[in-house]
Amino acid sequence: CLRRAQDAVARHARLVPDFPSPGIAFKDLTPVLADPDGFDAVIDALASACTGAELVAGVDARGFLLGGAVARQLGVGVIAVRKGGKLPPPVIGVDYDLEYGTARLEIPAEGIPLAGRRVVVIDDVLATGGTAVAAARLLTQAGATVDAIAVVMELQGLPGRRFIADGVGPAVRVHA
Ligand code: PRP
Ligand code: MG
Repeated sequence: CLRRAQDAVARHARLVPDFPSPGIAFKDLTPVLADPDGFDAVIDALASACTGAELVAGVDARGFLLGGAVARQLGVGVIAVRKGGKLPPPVIGVDYDLEYGTARLEIPAEGIPLAGRRVVVIDDVLATGGTAVAAARLLTQAGATVDAIAVVMELQGLPGRRFIADGVGPAVRVHA
């Protein structure tokens, strides 16, 4: 099942040279998810890495496409971890560093029972790991236990996995 997702990424992902900056080869997963078998394979692989989760957290924005589908497959609910300023109050948030500047992620502070619940964080790509770790820290701050961070792709040469191993917990990757 992991193999099927790896094949789908290999077959459908589009390489974009020099994006978002010169020298960076960007791997666009859009065509993988637009292919019915590719989408099914990726969701299957992510879901099989998330057994035991009681709630799925999808990270704004591309993690939304995956998080909802994984939650449905696991038979659990889903929460959107939003970029700053999108949610009505009250919210809890976390600021984190980007290569240039900072960003913020937020979740609702009320209405979702998070204390003691096992949550998985789902996103498309792990690069520096900053986004996924910030989402995990935010959910932990809200009282949840973050079981895993599951992504479709981990970019080579960046410290994502080590960052996560140091800070939060296991990372699951579908495709290198
Ligand atoms: C991208 C990607 C991951 C994140 C990975 O999101 O979807 O969420 O960067 O990078 P990191 O590991 O260095 O934090 P981005 O915020 O660029 O855009 P999006 O809103 O389209 O998902
Ligand atoms: Mg993103």
